[in-house]
Amino acid sequence: MEEVRAVITGIHAWVPEYRLTNHELSKMVDTSDEWIMQRVGIKERRILKGEGLGSSDLGEKAVKGLLEKTNTSPDEIDLVICATITPDMVFPATANIISDKAGLKNAFSFDLGAACSGFLFALQTGAAYIQTGRFRKVIVIGADKMSSITDYTDRTTCPLFGDAAGAVLLEPGTGDYGIMDYIFRVDGSGRKFLHMKAGGSVKPASHETVNAREHFVYQEGQSVFKFAVVNMADIAVEIMERNNLKPEDIAWLVPHQANLRIIDATGKRMGLPPEKVMVNIENYGNTTAATIPLCLWEYEKKLRKGDKLILAAFGGGFTWGSLYLKWAYDPD
Ligand code: UT7
Repeated sequence: MEEVRAVITGIHAWVPEYRLTNHELSKMVDTSDEWIMQRVGIKERRILKGEGLGSSDLGEKAVKGLLEKTNTSPDEIDLVICATITPDMVFPATANIISDKAGLKNAFSFDLGAACSGFLFALQTGAAYIQTGRFRKVIVIGADKMSSITDYTDRTTCPLFGDAAGAVLLEPGTGDYGIMDYIFRVDGSGRKFLHMKAGGSVKPASHETVNAREHFVYQEGQSVFKFAVVNMADIAVEIMERNNLKPEDIAWLVPHQANLRIIDATGKRMGLPPEKVMVNIENYGNTTAATIPLCLWEYEKKLRKGDKLILAAFGGGFTWGSLYLKWAYDPD
């Protein structure tokens, strides 16, 4: 019997309208367009403005667009997995809220937290459900309202992040397309370099934690950079070697968008020319779980059936991984 593979049959993403530019940031903290472009490669990021709006509102737009685009009825969806580190609330899961807002009546749903590797881990989790044979249509979302945990008085982190959501539809396929392989790793000791200090069960919210500004991303940038640049490149090369892929076999690297220098280093280590590397960090910054589906969505028209893609990410946890995917459809 032919092996069932999970195939991406559609992709959609959504970003809020508001553009927070480097110029505007330079009026809020001591920074400059020059520093941000040279060190990170970001020009602007999108911010979800408005009271009472959260990651589910980003995800809802991505999912509704995906259903419309793929001509799928909400009733057909069996499972929704939402990768996020900025859930609407600690519970219930943001995936449940998105399902409700998008009118999905027959799906069970849950969130997955793996920071910037969240979409990759969720994609493979969705694929594993498809491979059981019991699930025909699975939606995997990456949604993060990073502005809700970004300290706009801290110049070392506030230029980095933006808000966005992306979603893919996974279905079973038996051909030589879909998710072919993956390698995922975690090192929990890395948490000291990248975390949120308060708001969890160890240090619940209090007046003190709010006053100490402990409900925001805390990052020791240089240490994270050193781990990220080595591990993201290593794991991308590892999956190439395991699948006997030469640089010329690969159509696209789809990297997590945290820093243009990390992206460039990964592409170089893989032996890829820059035109084979998806990059949109300049326009959106680091949208955590949403970067990879946001890239795929922006480049969708350039993708061809049979294209070999390597997806790679590194993020908080530490978590990192790579995934080898054969694209399953031509544009339109
Ligand atoms: O997606 C999750 C995983 N996260 C990552 O992969 C992020 C990894 N880290 C990075 O991308 C980089 O470390 C950052 C972009 C966060 C920082 O870049 P860096 O080249 O590592 O800068 P640095 O932290 O070493 O700081 C260099 C200098 C410092 O000044 P001194 O000590 O040399 O005088 C900082 O105070 O730049 C200063 N600086 C800034 N200057 C202007 C830090 N932030 C800013 C700023 N504007 N926004």
